[in-house]
Amino acid sequence: MKNKFLYASAFTLAFVLVSCSQSAPQKTTDGLSDTEIEQRIESVMPQLTLEEKVALVHAQSKFSTPGVPRLGVPELWWSDGPHGVRAEFEWDSWLYAKHTNDSITAFPNLTALAATFNPDLAYEYGVALGEECLYRGKHVILGPTININRVPVNGRNFENFGEDPLLAARMAVPYIKGVQSQGVAASVKHFALNNQETDRFGVDVEVSDRALYEIYLPAFKASILEANSWTVMGAYNKYRGEHCCHNHRLLVDILKGEWNYDGVVVSDWGGTHDTKQAAENGLDVEMGSHTNGLSSGRANAYDDYYLAFPLRDSIKAGKIDEKFLDDKVRRVLRLIYRTHYHNNYGKVGNEEHLALGRKVAGEGIVLLQNTDNILPLASDKKMKIAVIGENATRKQCIGGGSSELKARNEISPLQGLQERFPNAEIVYSAGYDAGPSIYGFVMPSRLNADSLKNAAVEAVRDADVVLYFGGLNKNFKQDHEDSDRQTYDLPWGQNELIAELAKVNPNVSVFLFGGNPVAMPWKDSVKSISWVWYLGSETGHAIADVVSGDVCPSGKLPFSIPVRLEDNGAISFGAESYPGVDHKQVYKEDILVGYRWFDTKDIKPLYAFGYGLSYTNFELGNIAANNNGKNITVTASVKNTGAVDGAEVVQIYVGKPNSNIERAKKELRGFQKVAVKKGASANVEINIPVENLAFFNADKHAWEVEPGDYTVYVGTASDDIAQELTISVK
Ligand code: BGC
Repeated sequence: MKNKFLYASAFTLAFVLVSCSQSAPQKTTDGLSDTEIEQRIESVMPQLTLEEKVALVHAQSKFSTPGVPRLGVPELWWSDGPHGVRAEFEWDSWLYAKHTNDSITAFPNLTALAATFNPDLAYEYGVALGEECLYRGKHVILGPTININRVPVNGRNFENFGEDPLLAARMAVPYIKGVQSQGVAASVKHFALNNQETDRFGVDVEVSDRALYEIYLPAFKASILEANSWTVMGAYNKYRGEHCCHNHRLLVDILKGEWNYDGVVVSDWGGTHDTKQAAENGLDVEMGSHTNGLSSGRANAYDDYYLAFPLRDSIKAGKIDEKFLDDKVRRVLRLIYRTHYHNNYGKVGNEEHLALGRKVAGEGIVLLQNTDNILPLASDKKMKIAVIGENATRKQCIGGGSSELKARNEISPLQGLQERFPNAEIVYSAGYDAGPSIYGFVMPSRLNADSLKNAAVEAVRDADVVLYFGGLNKNFKQDHEDSDRQTYDLPWGQNELIAELAKVNPNVSVFLFGGNPVAMPWKDSVKSISWVWYLGSETGHAIADVVSGDVCPSGKLPFSIPVRLEDNGAISFGAESYPGVDHKQVYKEDILVGYRWFDTKDIKPLYAFGYGLSYTNFELGNIAANNNGKNITVTASVKNTGAVDGAEVVQIYVGKPNSNIERAKKELRGFQKVAVKKGASANVEINIPVENLAFFNADKHAWEVEPGDYTVYVGTASDDIAQELTISVK
C-alpha cells in the first residue's frame, strides 16, 4: 500500500497532497468483467424454474444461501463481520460447529479504526479482512457497520465509525474497496437509522428528512456511490411504520431509486416480517427468519421463510408479480458472479495481518490526558509497575454479539507489558470482576468486590506507577448487541476503585476499553487517561507500544465524551427521543448529533470530538483558505515542536454564520493525518468541494448551497481551532 504519510525533513517543506480519498480499488482478483457477469445472468435466467428462483432469495442454513446445483451456479457463504471472520456455526443452530480450523486474526474494532483518521489504513484493513474471508471460504462479510453514534449508551456503537457522517463515509469507502478488491462482498449495515439496541426489533423512528439525508445517510450513500458495496443489510427497526428490511422509502425510493443500486439487499437475521412487503419493497435475500435472529427458533424453517414457499404460492396465485422475484434473482446472480471465478485463496492469521492489526491499534489509541508527561514509561528502567483491572487479562474478542471473534491468539495488556518491560517488577491485581460473558444475560460476579478492591489498593501502595485497565467490556448490557448500557458510569464499582487507587498512589495511568463514552468523576486525581477500544489479536502489543513510547499516540476521538449523559442532544429530550415510548421514537435533536449539539448549544464536553494528545506537540501555521468556485482549498503547515516523531490530524470544520436556516455551528468537512518528524514541518492541502457545503432542502427534496460568507475552522480537534477564516460562496 502506498503510504500517504509524508515525513518532511527540517529543511524541506514537503507538500502533502491531502485529500480524504483513499487509493483507487485495486482489483487483485481476476474475476469476471461486468459485461461477462451480465451475460451470464441473462443466460441463466431463462433456465431457472420458479422453485429455483425462490430458493436463491432465502437462506438454506444460518449463514448460507443455495446456488442452483443443476446448473453449476454456486452457493453464497456469508459471515460476520465486521472486525474479522466469525467462527463456523452448525448448519441450523446458533451453536458453534466446533471446527478446529476457523480461528482468525481479530482486527481492532471499527471505532478504533475511525480514531486513526487514516483512510489508507481502512483500505489495508479491508484488504486483509477480504483475504481472511477468502481463506475461510466466505463470499460476503457482514460489515462494515456504519450507523451513526447518536447516543453514548448504544450497545453497538463500538462497531461503528463514530458520530460524524463525513468521518464514517471516509473510513467506510476504503474499507469496502479493500474487501471487494479481493473479490469478497462487503455488506454495509444496518440500513438505516439503527442507532440503538433497546427495542431494536420494534422501535419506529421518526426523523426529519434533513437529519436523514445530512446525518444518517451520507456514509451509506458514499458506500454505494463511491465503493459500490455489493450488498447492503437492512436494519431491524422501523422507519415511518415499516420495517427497514422491507421499507419502501429506504430501499426502493432512495437506495435503488436515487442511488441506482445494483447490488443485493439482505435482511438482518430475523428482520423480515411480511411476504408482500419483502417481495415488493426492495428486499432481495431473507436470512435468519423464524428465529429471534439470534439464539432460538424452529429447526429447518427455511421453507416457511417469507421469501420461500409463501412467495412462491403468492406468485402462483397471481398476488405478487414474478417480475419482483426476477429482479432479486438477477441481483443475487450478480453477487454470485462478482464473488466467484477468481484465483485468490486468501490468507489467515499471517504475520502481515497481525502487524496491520497492531498498526491500526497503535494509531487508534487516543491519549486524553498526560499530566507531567507520565507516559511513556522508560522500558530500561528498574521500577515496580502495578497493573490493575480485569481488562488487563480479560479476553475481549469473544463477546459483544455477532461481532464476536475466535482469535487465534489474543495478547492481553498484561502479557504485552511483561514482554516489553522485562526489567520491571510487574504485579497484577484484578481490582474488580465483571463476571462471564453470556449472550442475553447479565451474570454478576461471584467474587467479593471489597476483597478485590482492597487487594488492588494494597498492590499499588509501593508501586512506582499504576497502570489501570478497566472501562467497559463486551458483556450483555455493556458494549453488546441487543442491549444498551443502563448507566453512563463505569460498571463494577470502578469509579470508587480508581478513586481509591489514586488516594494511595499519585501515579495512576488509566486505560479505558470501550466503544462508548463513560463518566470520569476521578479524572483529576489520575495522571493519564488513554482510550484503548477493543484492539483484537494484538491488543497487548499495541498497548505496550504506546506505554513504552515505541508508538507515539495519534488517535483522535470519533465521538464526543459528555460530562453527563443528559448533555447528549438526543438524550436531553427524554424518553420520547431516546429510547422511545410505546415503540415510537422521534429524533428531536434533529441534525444536531454529537459535537454539532455541544458546539451549537455551547455545552462543554469532557472531551470533544476530534480530540487526542500526542507525546510531542504540533503547531499549525500559514493557514489559508481559498475558494476557486468549485473547491475550497485549505492549506496549512504542521510543525512538530516536540522531542519525538509523531502524527497530527488537521481537521477542517465549516459553519455558516447568519444562515437562513437552522444549522450546526460547524461541521467536519475535511481532514488529513500527517506524520512529521521531530523538529520538522509538513504542509497539508485539503480540498473541499463547494457542493459539500450544501444543506438538504426537504421542501424541494434537493441539496442547496446557500450563498454568502462561511467560516472555515482549521484545527486539531473540534474544540481546538487554530484559526478561523472567512470565505465567500456565490
Ligand atoms: C446482527 C447483524 C449480524 C447478523 C448475523 C444480527 O443479529 O444485527 O449485524 O450480521 O445478526 O449474525
